[in-house]
Amino acid sequence: MNKIILASNNNGKIKEFREIFKDMDIELVPMKEAGIDVDIEENGETFEENSLIKARTVCKLSGCITIADDSGLEVDYLGGQPGVYSARFMGHDTSYDIKNKAIIDKLKGVSGKDRSARFVAVIAAVFPDGRELVTRGTMEGIIGQEPLGENGFGYDPILFLPEYNKSSAELAPEEKNKISHRGKALEKMKTALEEAIK
Ligand code: IMP
Repeated sequence: MNKIILASNNNGKIKEFREIFKDMDIELVPMKEAGIDVDIEENGETFEENSLIKARTVCKLSGCITIADDSGLEVDYLGGQPGVYSARFMGHDTSYDIKNKAIIDKLKGVSGKDRSARFVAVIAAVFPDGRELVTRGTMEGIIGQEPLGENGFGYDPILFLPEYNKSSAELAPEEKNKISHRGKALEKMKTALEEAIK
């Protein structure tokens, strides 16, 4: 069985990754359990760069195949912001109620398709022999006129999904996992890993 380190200590992510990889012949170990405790500076300019920075760092320290992810909200009218700065936008400690209202305010007077936005997730896998795999998934929508829904986290209440006539925070968690940016990137990574470790 291949041991794969997950360069994250976020319980929600660990659960979601394990769920998708459950029928694979791998043991997914969160980095803390592997004895790795590092603060990695995510100073890349793209989701791809940031996920690779994390995966490369932990792969080097552990000597094992390592996967890492990076994600965020891209708003086209704002030139793709907050993008890789999604967690840091307006400060780490600012509540999402405030961040979400600020984004809606920035789009005052903007209508229809010009409000287009998406969640992006990128997953990187780095092998001790230097091989690197990168996959990407998106969930497309528009910035709603007001925050809606109680499920999820972060920017979920303001990403409105016209296809479902609901915000991302109005989707049930199982429903969201099936169509989410992270779910799509993970499924692609599963296929890429199966090919790479067979
Ligand atoms: P990270 O990938 O854990 O660094 O998360 C980046 C940030 O992107 C999160 O803190 C959220 O602000 C935002 N984000 C990523 N995925 C989602 C999502 O599914 N819903 C809401 N916000 C998200």
